Amino acid sequence: MCGIIGYVGSQAATGILMNGLRKLEYRGYDSAGIAVIEDGGDLKLLKREGKVDSLAQAVSSAQFTGSVGIGHTRWATHGSPCDVNAHPHLDCYGDVVVIHNGIVENHLEIKGRLMRGGHKFASETDSEVIPHLVEEALKCGTGLVEAMRQTIAQISGAHAIVALDRRRPDQLVVARVGNAGGVVIGYGEGESFVASDLSALLSHTRKVVFLEDREIAELESGCRRYFDVHGQPMEKQTVDLPYEPVLAAKGNFEHYMLKEIMEQPDSVLSTIRGRVRLDPAKIELEGVHISGRELNGIKRVLLVGMGTSLHAAMVGRHYMERIAGLPAEVDNASEFRYRDPIIGPETLVVSVGQSGETVDTLAAMELAKNRSSVQVTICNVVGSQASRIADGVVYTRCGLEIGVCSTKTFTSSIVALYLLSCYLGQARGVIQRERIADLLGPLGQMPHLMGQVTKQAPTYERLSRSFVKNNHFLFLGRGVQYAVAMEGALKLKEVSYIHAEGYPAGEMKHGPIALIDRETPVVAIAVHDALYEKMMNNVEQVRARGGTVIAIATEGNDEIQDKADYVISIPECSPWLAPVLTSIPLQFLAYYMAMQRGCDVDQPRNLAKTVTVE
Ligand code: G6P
Repeated sequence: MCGIIGYVGSQAATGILMNGLRKLEYRGYDSAGIAVIEDGGDLKLLKREGKVDSLAQAVSSAQFTGSVGIGHTRWATHGSPCDVNAHPHLDCYGDVVVIHNGIVENHLEIKGRLMRGGHKFASETDSEVIPHLVEEALKCGTGLVEAMRQTIAQISGAHAIVALDRRRPDQLVVARVGNAGGVVIGYGEGESFVASDLSALLSHTRKVVFLEDREIAELESGCRRYFDVHGQPMEKQTVDLPYEPVLAAKGNFEHYMLKEIMEQPDSVLSTIRGRVRLDPAKIELEGVHISGRELNGIKRVLLVGMGTSLHAAMVGRHYMERIAGLPAEVDNASEFRYRDPIIGPETLVVSVGQSGETVDTLAAMELAKNRSSVQVTICNVVGSQASRIADGVVYTRCGLEIGVCSTKTFTSSIVALYLLSCYLGQARGVIQRERIADLLGPLGQMPHLMGQVTKQAPTYERLSRSFVKNNHFLFLGRGVQYAVAMEGALKLKEVSYIHAEGYPAGEMKHGPIALIDRETPVVAIAVHDALYEKMMNNVEQVRARGGTVIAIATEGNDEIQDKADYVISIPECSPWLAPVLTSIPLQFLAYYMAMQRGCDVDQPRNLAKTVTVE
């Protein structure tokens, strides 16, 4: 889940590497480092514990001028987050320098062997064995590509690696093995780039190649060559990026998280745009082409994801059952992948992910692929690994999401799942045209209604001040709102470091009710839907035990004003789409509480946006 960046060309590499690291910092911010080969052949290395800012201070007085280099921002797995453990890592002679994303699972065995052969190691990391293995291979007279090939043959696990040899300052060699986060090669005029993801390349080029599992790239300023793991040359297709660099800018907002919360009316509009026809009512999903035979063969749906995306999948399960008419289950991808799940061609696997690079979700998808399941992925990042594994893709089209905790991609994933369920219901002939019109009509109102919710930001800020000292929260919901309760609790944990639990409200009596006291506010999502009365019973039960209730309710509900201590109103809308509205105040609460507690909202401690290690 670290971020990697590399450059070879004619410009000074340092600025490009530092800008790239800032864009990639959301992937990990325990330490950062760069290595640049100067014109005279000297290898300059700088690494600092902490965020890219600490490295930037050191770089500003270093005056590197070389035009080839690599940079890394780390999320520590093996070895504490200190200067020595920061990447890049060197071989014994200071010739080979490497950055790495992934875990060398057999590093202890390799390190022992290398140490017995006289190698000395500086760090506690697993990654440091890589430059030493490359060094060993180079000693036998091979080139850097072959040395990389031999190295990846010896290490187990999933990896993205970039290596640089001081004696060959015109060349970077890159390898990808498994799913340790993406590797994107950027094509410039007389320059080449490599990065973990598109965000770091957007200001330089829109022409890229995605490196796949078990592929190696050799980058020079004017050319790029590709090889498979047997060293055989191969052709790769370039892709033209759809993003504009401006989408990655923070604008006038203090934080990306706030910007991304506020963007939701637009991002949901973008998810819907061009996919919904009202006269006659019809759904068109440009990335999903399931044949009639496959459709007829589908007997059930399995949804998988992690974190916020798992919560969106939980909402999607209801849509698949009620709209597409298919039995549906939802599973945490990290659990699913290690069971022996009973799935086959009759199971449609729907994976949900912002990045399309989460290691557990990708592994679940690979498993489903091996069992011949048809797969559709809901994903925000064009060209991500998930989009390449799946048979079909519904892009959420939110633009880049930079804040580490997901916000706009949650609401757009829900809308994408709704679209997919309507599409399946329509294609399988289980819903009549009039019903499709009833389902699609409310979608068009959502951006406007979401705008009404985001406009209430000052109210949420005031409310958050009343609770900033509380250290425990309970979130309750039923039906589709159970997933929102889980998501509300997750937001609070992630950015405000407040302990919060999300529960199905009916479960409250089976334990969580014992937690209720004046210090543990209960957020109850009690909008007008089929389960409203049941939710109100739970609200009464909390009040009867002296608990404080913050209710998320439908506008115009007078009854709840007397039952709850605080009421947040959301506009009336289709109950199925209501999660898209009810989640927004919960995002704001987490944001404002984090602000008042002085937390780092965009880069919460210990987290990373894309989790590419287990
Ligand atoms: C990390 C992020 C979360 C995100 C989760 C799943 O934990 O901090 O915000 O929900 O990964 O990521 P994905 O890209 O698969 O949606």
